[in-house]
Amino acid sequence: MSKRRHKPETLLAHLGRDYRAHFGLVNPPVCHGSTILFDDVDTFERFDHNQEKSVISYGRGGTPTTFALEETVAEMEGGYRAFALCSGLAAVSVGILSAVDSGGHALICDNIYGPSRRFCSGLLGRLGVEVTYYDPLIGAGIESLFQPNTQVVFLESPGSLTFEMQDVPAIVKAAKAAGVRVVMDNTWATFLHFQPLAHGVDISVQAGTKYMVGHADAMFGVITCTEEIEPRVRQTFKQLGQCAAPDDVYLALRGLRTMAVRLARHQQSATEVAKWLQGRAEVDRVLYPALPEDPGHAIWQRDFTGACGLFGVVLSQPYAREAVNALVNGMELFGIGVSWGGFESLLVPSHPEKARTATTWSAPGPSLRIHVGLEDAGDLIADLEAGFERLTRAAGGQDG
Ligand SMILES: Cc1ncc(COP(=O)(O)O)c(C=O)c1O
Repeated sequence: MSKRRHKPETLLAHLGRDYRAHFGLVNPPVCHGSTILFDDVDTFERFDHNQEKSVISYGRGGTPTTFALEETVAEMEGGYRAFALCSGLAAVSVGILSAVDSGGHALICDNIYGPSRRFCSGLLGRLGVEVTYYDPLIGAGIESLFQPNTQVVFLESPGSLTFEMQDVPAIVKAAKAAGVRVVMDNTWATFLHFQPLAHGVDISVQAGTKYMVGHADAMFGVITCTEEIEPRVRQTFKQLGQCAAPDDVYLALRGLRTMAVRLARHQQSATEVAKWLQGRAEVDRVLYPALPEDPGHAIWQRDFTGACGLFGVVLSQPYAREAVNALVNGMELFGIGVSWGGFESLLVPSHPEKARTATTWSAPGPSLRIHVGLEDAGDLIADLEAGFERLTRAAGGQDG
């Protein structure tokens, strides 16, 4: 297939499957394996088990199921190569480790996903990498934080819990001028709505657990990189023994086929729900860059081509924990749980004020994180409306 002529939706339906190689099956089968057998000693000993491209030599290096997924993602991200990992967090940590050495310095956005932050403050520090958290809105000002030993800038845009949009082109420009590598967590936008490598990012990571898998039933991560940094990513990935289980890879590959239609629906419903929330007296603001009122909207419009179903809500008063719990606990359609990107809606209290050190988070009331799933948006709004009634009732009870 002459892939370049086709739109992303078309590519997602066709990449990574060669029915001739798999008995005519539309989908590549789930290939399990550890040992790979060779015909004779010469062939076995000649084999380069660390080779650059996807060749079967041992199960940890992947099977045809893994390669189908990796080739699809590499193509979708416009990268030289993609690597499948067991989780999004593994993709983040291997991505960062691929760009730093002991004695180096990493600049990490202050709104990074919590467990990614724990990796940066924990293991990265133990390995002798200096870490500085920076204001995600810093833009070109990132330059002022570069030190002689700065090796990497890590971006997550929009960031976890607070959804600030980063000025990726400005940060990349400053980083390139200083010879600093850029790693970006692109889970929120996915390659469908933002192309990190086309914007000069060296390593793009995604928690495939979210929209790639799309059904809340598997953990998965993926790294895509440029040719220049691929040897370092490959070494880091292989030396850490990274791989992904074939069943989970298969679920991610299957999820990819419908990802574009699912994401379009997530965005459509999330926008409807977010706009409704904006009109509520209980809500101070909705943190969703796709809304014109969002402070990051101009950057989102300039750089991104769409949004997903995840956003934040700041309540307008300092509602007590009991009142917020009354809202959340009584929801009929929104589950209480972490992760996002599945077909189902989720609602959890969030605490951005606890999660940052370079910036402060001030808000008139508690925050919530909402994932809008594939349910009918009107049903979700009705559920939220009932939730706000519980919130107000519980708050009134406390006031009285
Ligand atoms: C932005 C972001 N990056 C990375 C991850 C980690 O992904 P996983 O849960 O697959 O390890 C998450 C998980 O919630 C996330 O929200």
